[in-house]
Amino acid sequence: MRQTPVYYYSSASGLVRAFAERLGRPAFNLAEREHRRSEVDGPWVLLTPSYKTGNEANDTIPEAVRRFLRSAANRRRLVGVMGSGNRNFGRYYQHAAREIAARSGRPVLFEFELSGTPWDVQECRRILAELDDALARRPR
Ligand SMILES: Cc1cc2nc3c(=O)[nH]c(=O)nc-3n(C[C@H](O)[C@H](O)[C@H](O)COP(=O)(O)O)c2cc1C
Repeated sequence: MRQTPVYYYSSASGLVRAFAERLGRPAFNLAEREHRRSEVDGPWVLLTPSYKTGNEANDTIPEAVRRFLRSAANRRRLVGVMGSGNRNFGRYYQHAAREIAARSGRPVLFEFELSGTPWDVQECRRILAELDDALARRPR
């Protein structure tokens, strides 16, 4: 069965990368130019942290994620969004993941803080396995 790939952005602090690498499936870091410029060949899931800029607009979506979503094919094949955040950011908690989900009409599949707990990893693996299964049954 096809494992739905996860495309994520992770900054130098690497919290999201640490989580993504524990998912046991293909995971690509959009901080790397090669991945940021690629086009996905089927359904995929986005995993993004939120980064409040502090400017007036308070954008929270990482530039690499914006860049990747500029591709119409990537937008069309996106099936769900996951977010990493920090509750200290109050009403901006998970702002990037939630905004992308709202704008694309795709569900938020999972949210966790920082690099996640072992439970978060297990839960996320379960959700993604269910997604693989649902996609495999989907009529083409
Ligand atoms: C400057 C800065 C701004 C952040 N802004 C937000 C935010 O608006 N909302 C949120 O939920 N988390 C926010 N966070 C927390 C990060 O999204 C979280 O720590 C994430 O795990 C970082 O992933 P990374 O280390 O892979 O880049 C912010 C962190 C930093 C350092």
